[in-house]
Amino acid sequence: MATSTSSTLGIPQSADVPRHLAVIMDGNGRWATKRFLPRAAGHARGVQAVRRVVEACGKRGVQYLTLFAFSSENWRRPEDEVSLLMRLFVQTLEKEVDKLDEQGVRLRVVGDLSAFEPKLQDLIRAAEQRTERNSALNLTIAANYGGRWDILQAMRSLLAANPELAATPQKIDEKALSAHLSMSWAPEPDLFIRTGGEQRVSNFLIWQLAYTELYFTDGYWPDFGAREIDEAFEWYRGRERRFGRTSAQLAQSKQ
Ligand code: IPE
Ligand code: IPE
Ligand code: MG
Repeated sequence: MATSTSSTLGIPQSADVPRHLAVIMDGNGRWATKRFLPRAAGHARGVQAVRRVVEACGKRGVQYLTLFAFSSENWRRPEDEVSLLMRLFVQTLEKEVDKLDEQGVRLRVVGDLSAFEPKLQDLIRAAEQRTERNSALNLTIAANYGGRWDILQAMRSLLAANPELAATPQKIDEKALSAHLSMSWAPEPDLFIRTGGEQRVSNFLIWQLAYTELYFTDGYWPDFGAREIDEAFEWYRGRERRFGRTSAQLAQSKQ
């Protein structure tokens, strides 16, 4: 079968370093609480971890790094924490885009951005435009993102573009739908990392994680850095990615 960027329509090629790494950055609040600090301190330290991980991924040849920053369910948090997270997002964009641009990073933000205040939406658009010619690393921030939202918006967008499909739904296939997902331009993640000890996907890239290797670690996100990335990549190298085949078939395909 031909190599593909879809794990179900073909067999994606795997390398020692994941081409696409997707991360749930979890544990900021507990990191702070453990130190008798306000949760805000954990979120601030979390931004520093983002810097370290972006740099480490760039150096190791990761092409796509996707970070879950705010889920469609995180609006359920206390109002002051939500507004702090929004402020931190604005500040980080204001401060970091120059450096990201210098590093050749292309920044994109996925999620339902219409819920954000206009200033944040403008900053996001400006950062995306400013870095759109960069290609060293594709950094995507998932903000007000939910995997279910993504699948729904893809279906709506597919039908809006092809209204005749409503009468012939059997013509809708994976390829057609996935072309409308918010990260249709990226290969599916090879490796997923969740810090903070929880072993769940929390409505992240639920379509794209179909065959992703899932790595969970107890460490809190503010403590995450290059060494932890190397540990996760080492674990990833030891996985046998079969995509439905047997081990024997896999060995044969490598000859
Ligand atoms: C992850 O850390 C950051 C966001 C969800 C924005 P948490 O804030 O979820 O930290 P814990 O899980 O409460 O420790
Ligand atoms: C997932 O973390 C979302 C982000 C890291 C942005 P949560 O801390 O919100 O997840 P749950 O509620 O524990 O599943
Ligand atoms: Mg959490």
